Amino acid sequence: MTDLRDGLDIRPLDAGFGARIFGLAHLPDGRQRAAIQAALDEYAVVAIDGQQLDRAALVAFTRQFGEPVRHQVAEYLAGDNPEVMILSNNFDADGKRLGAPNNGIFWHSDQIHQRVPVNYTLLYGHAVPGEGGDTLFADMRAVLDALPAPIRAKLEGRNVVHSFRASYEKNYIEAEPLTEARRVANPDVPHPAFRTHPATGRKSVYIDPDSAIAVEGLTPAESDETLAFVFDFLERAEFVYRHRWKRGDLVVWDNRCLMHRATSYDETVERRIMWRTQTKGTAPF
Ligand code: SIN
Repeated sequence: MTDLRDGLDIRPLDAGFGARIFGLAHLPDGRQRAAIQAALDEYAVVAIDGQQLDRAALVAFTRQFGEPVRHQVAEYLAGDNPEVMILSNNFDADGKRLGAPNNGIFWHSDQIHQRVPVNYTLLYGHAVPGEGGDTLFADMRAVLDALPAPIRAKLEGRNVVHSFRASYEKNYIEAEPLTEARRVANPDVPHPAFRTHPATGRKSVYIDPDSAIAVEGLTPAESDETLAFVFDFLERAEFVYRHRWKRGDLVVWDNRCLMHRATSYDETVERRIMWRTQTKGTAPF
């Protein structure tokens, strides 16, 4: 079914969440911005087809959906537009990495290990592999609706502790080890296991395998067992949408109700260069 809003052709996906958007030929005007915002509230992730953005245009696009915030792993920020983080397996002529090569390979919600995580992430396919390098999304609202009652009861009303260190050690294996100063600047943070979306009022599971280390108030054994169950459960096919990239896709998602992860590709033959921005969020409740 196609939904035409302000010149945009918005096509919901079969996955039960997510939509593709066609017909956007320039930076969205006010009405198009509102239509994309409404699609995000409804579908949580939108893939906007056929964009031709440079990094400054990506930042301008990002501003339409909130205040851009810099990623705290500064090594991979673009020199010309530091609001943009570069994810890439590419090197410059001197052999220096041009982007983070392994970022996002575990299911996560962006910046969940910060006291105030981000709302939206925008990811632009500047160069995409012919095969592989897809991005997976899990609808954590549907995960909550389907969670078995005993697991739900264990998590209801509890906080889960998230660790920047745990996340860094998984995602930046090629980079410098985390310094003590950086660890202290990014302490562990608790967030509610079930988060309420401030705009839609819908609740979702807000726990990710990338950085969640403990459920407060459970014994270590109970906590490990509960987290392991959730990590396994969210991967079930009925909760997941796989985005297969085309060059010029701009994918925007809402970290308050989705998890996502990158998938592998043959790095010896393929080139993947993605530009990523994120918008300022609010403390989860
Ligand atoms: C991310 O986790 O932010 C990026 C995902 C991807 O590169 O597919």
